[in-house]
Amino acid sequence: MNWKEVDKGWGDQARVWATVMEPRWWPEFDALLRATEVGDATDYLDIACGSGLMINMAARRGSKSHGLDASDRLLAIAKRRTPDADIRHGDMNSLPWSDATFDVVTSCRGIWGPNQQAVHEAARVLRPGGCLGLSFFAAGREASQIGKAFKAIRRISEHEVEWSTQLGEIGLEGRAEEMCQLAGLTPEPRQGVEFDLEGADLDHEVRAWMSAGPAWMAIQERGAEEVERSIREEFADLEEIDFGIRTRVLIEFVVARKPS
Ligand SMILES: C[S@@+](CC[C@H](N)C(=O)[O-])C[C@H]1O[C@@H](n2cnc3c(N)ncnc32)[C@H](O)[C@@H]1O
Repeated sequence: MNWKEVDKGWGDQARVWATVMEPRWWPEFDALLRATEVGDATDYLDIACGSGLMINMAARRGSKSHGLDASDRLLAIAKRRTPDADIRHGDMNSLPWSDATFDVVTSCRGIWGPNQQAVHEAARVLRPGGCLGLSFFAAGREASQIGKAFKAIRRISEHEVEWSTQLGEIGLEGRAEEMCQLAGLTPEPRQGVEFDLEGADLDHEVRAWMSAGPAWMAIQERGAEEVERSIREEFADLEEIDFGIRTRVLIEFVVARKPS
């Protein structure tokens, strides 16, 4: 999909994504900000920042925050949340900043499998000595229940089967590290963060996943009702009377440094 069309899917449910889905990933954002040592006066960029919770958390740590995403409607929320940040609409494969602008660049599940060009761009805008923090779903880990969401969508959408297999490649052993090395960065050992995505009940869970880009693609193919039904069926067995739906997620990330 051309980056100019990304907003059709990712922006369609922007308010729901920002309020129901995005906050559930805060342990990942926190882990990455700590691992990359974002703090006072850090020149910081988040690539594929979505509705910008990560940027907001970085700004609260004192950083000079910047963000980029292809979805105008998600960005409108990001700008409203952190008005002082420099937040731009654009393509991660061609960043609108000069070489060596940032101390830290991150992307949380924003740069996926085959997208080497985006890693090259991230490396280009880093200062020597600066670092890139890249997070992604751990591939093939049994402890992670996140596969349920992809399964719910994949089993009814031809397009998503092909697309998500390619995109998920970055989680394979050594793949993210290799992408960083190809861009001239030196990766540190891979780290992980485990947490539960919390949903009040099945309705909440369905609403959260229906706001994600991949669901939108499936909705175009099969209609909202069928996608909703599939998500509901897949998550039903995770419901606990006193705790709602808790989905165990394992996120892995690599911090890779640009040589001084
Ligand atoms: C899985 S979401 C992650 C959003 C955010 N990092 C978070 O954790 O909430 C993927 C994001 O990538 C953005 N995106 C997709 N293709 C893009 C591109 N070519 N350039 C910039 N952003 C893009 C989407 O608009 C969406 O916000």
